[in-house]
Parts: sequence; C-alpha cells; structure tokens
Amino acid sequence: MERLQKVIAQAGITSRRKAETLIEEGRVRVNGKTVTELGTKVDVHTDDVEVDGVPISKEEPVYYLLYKPQGIISSVEDHLGRKVVTDLIETESRIFPIGRLDSDTSGLLLLTNDGEFANLLMHPKYRIHKTYIAKVQGIPSRQKLKQLEKGIHLEDGKTAPARTKFIKGNNQKGTAIVELTIHEGKNRQVRRMLEAIGHPVDKLKREQYGFLTLKGLNAGEYRELKPHEVKKLRELAVT
Ligand code: URA
Repeated sequence: MERLQKVIAQAGITSRRKAETLIEEGRVRVNGKTVTELGTKVDVHTDDVEVDGVPISKEEPVYYLLYKPQGIISSVEDHLGRKVVTDLIETESRIFPIGRLDSDTSGLLLLTNDGEFANLLMHPKYRIHKTYIAKVQGIPSRQKLKQLEKGIHLEDGKTAPARTKFIKGNNQKGTAIVELTIHEGKNRQVRRMLEAIGHPVDKLKREQYGFLTLKGLNAGEYRELKPHEVKKLRELAVT
C-alpha cells in the first residue's frame, strides 16, 4: 500500500506536492469515491485511481535536458497563451520542468514526468550545484564578489556561500561577465545577489546543473538524459 499522493506523483501526473493539492481540491477518486484525506493508502495494483475523472496509468518515466531559450516560460501552460518549455519537447508523456528558470533567463532546464525524481532534486536539503553566467552592469571588484562568497542578506534571508569567478570586463561598455555557482533556489536569486552588490544583471544563462552541461545543444534544442545520468543525479541528491 502506498500513499495516494505518492501514487499520483509516480504516475507522472504532477509533483507530490501538487498531487496533495489535487486531493484536497476533491479532484481525486479512489474506486469511484472522492477522497480528500491526504494520508489515504491505496494499492496501485488493485485500486482504481482517477484524477479529474481520468484513470491514472503508470507512464514510463522520461527525462529531458533542454537548453531553454530566453523568453520562454518554465511551466506546462500559461494563462496568457505564451510559449512554455513543454511546447519545445516532442513527447506523448506528461512532462513538467524540475524547478524553474525565469522567462528572461536561458540555459539548462530538466524536465520529466517522474514526480518522485523531481521532488528529490528540488528538495532544499539536497545541494545540487548550479552554475550561471551573468552579464552585469559595471565591473565588480574582487571585494564585491567576495561578499557573495560569504553570503549576502536578501529580503528573504541570507544566501549560502556562493562560488564566483570573474570572467572578463569591458571597460568601454562598462559591463562584465561573471560566473556564479549556487545550490539554493530562491526566486530570482542570482539576479538579486548581483543587484545587491550593485551590479544589475543584463543577461543570465544557466550553464551547468550538477555535472550536466549544455554541451552539443543550441538554444531551443534538447536531448534525453542517459540512464547513467539519471542514476548519478539520484545519487547526488541523496548523498
Ligand atoms: N537565478 C535567477 O535570478 N534567475 C533564474 O532563472 C535562476 C536563478
């Protein structure tokens, strides 16, 4: 017997947290009866589970690495009809992004239909490193970047120590390229960190997620993760 929210997440419909909301909203039926109790246990083999009247079936898990272009929304749908990341991937599976990149940020984004896997990678206690390349206004001094390495106060708390690297400065244009590696996922974190040291971001790209890079992909292109990469991500998340 498994908890209902886990069964729904494993069916690839959504993350476990969203599955809890579906249950609370009365959108889930077990053997024809609406269930709103989060602790409910079901037997995946014998109980009939429906979400919005549609029986869940266990989809094969799929995992994609997308080079998200700027201007695309990290979501499965947009109420204003703008383009979303799942529009870029051809699949029959009900995939969703693992975490999000801002619409104006480009770079590496993972998508899957495996809610358990997504929960694992997104859990704040797992410290998967993400590396960003930012084009900033002004030329940050070593001292300023050191502030980010120590952790800096933002309105929602202090950031964990980041790794920083000054890549190059353009004195004529008064801009610079810096690399930042963080393992947290506060909203617009990199932009806010750089803004906080007086260097607003003009352009932002996520270059790396754990050991994964964008190698071989152009913006808008994607590939499936290899089984050994999925395995390694799981290991990274739990160690
Ligand atoms: N930090 C940001 O500011 N934006 C992103 O999209 C990701 C991290």
